Amino acid sequence: MTQSHPRITKAVIPAAGLGTRFLPATKATPKEMLPVVDKPAIQYVVEEAVTAGLDDVLMVTGRNKRPLEDHFDRNYELESALEKKGDGERLAKVQESSDLATMHYVRQGDPRGLGHAVLCAAPHVGREPFAVLLGDDLIDPRDPLLQRMIDVQEGYGGSVVALMEVAPEQIHLYGCAAVEGTGDSDVVKVTGLVEKPEAAEAPSNYAIIGRYVLDPHIFDILRTTEPGRGGEIQLTDALQQLAEDEEVGGPVHGVVFKGRRYDTGDRGDYLRAIVRLACEREDLGPDFRAWLQRYVAEEMQRS
Ligand code: UTP
Repeated sequence: MTQSHPRITKAVIPAAGLGTRFLPATKATPKEMLPVVDKPAIQYVVEEAVTAGLDDVLMVTGRNKRPLEDHFDRNYELESALEKKGDGERLAKVQESSDLATMHYVRQGDPRGLGHAVLCAAPHVGREPFAVLLGDDLIDPRDPLLQRMIDVQEGYGGSVVALMEVAPEQIHLYGCAAVEGTGDSDVVKVTGLVEKPEAAEAPSNYAIIGRYVLDPHIFDILRTTEPGRGGEIQLTDALQQLAEDEEVGGPVHGVVFKGRRYDTGDRGDYLRAIVRLACEREDLGPDFRAWLQRYVAEEMQRS
């Protein structure tokens, strides 16, 4: 393991997708702004980046993304109204998101795929390794992942993806990794990647989830990556090239994540995220849990 890599300081958050799985809610509102309990999903993601020490955040936005920019900006009118009322608690909540990180924005224009969204970050990132956090992927704040990925990247060099074991019938929903073990029990070497394979063709049950630490050579590859599955420029296809040729950009490793993760762009997972996080909240949890227990008991009796 070498230790001579530049420290990672930048996070890129692609949030320019159309969010069609969540229509009609996402007709005029980005899916990343949907509340998970009382915070928009995207705020958890920015908080995760900041907790891992990345306070330079570039958000890749598209159409209807103005609310994202407004959420991380000051709202003087609201702040002064709350100040006048002497409501310090809510004032702090309003100011929290604008004080979190140094935010930057770039527009993707046409949503031509996740790979293309990441490429839009190239001028801002330059030639340093950087993190990518998908704006609709929520990692439970109690199960840290990104810091471990950064440590692994600093140790092994190259790029690092986050992997989660899923049931074989789920693998067609994800990018899938072929892997070999390493000396670290939670780290594998990625030898190949396939985007959304059928269960029979999948090289493993390891699904790629929405956290990446990438070597900047990924930009050189993305510039020539042809549209793949779904006619989109796929980040997985570019990562496959990185994994294939270690000479360019170093190896690709995977951190195997066993914590809680929610795809907030999926309606079922979104509901599960809200229930789980609400149950854990000190202010809302006790009442909500008691209600939920009664509700589940009633439902069991009915069925
Ligand atoms: P998804 O695969 O969830 O696609 O994107 P989507 O368009 O956002 O949502 P659905 O499937 O239509 O409901 C994964 C991540 O990549 C971003 C999305 O914002 C999301 O964070 N993305 C995707 C972009 O930023 N640009 C793109 O062109 C595509």
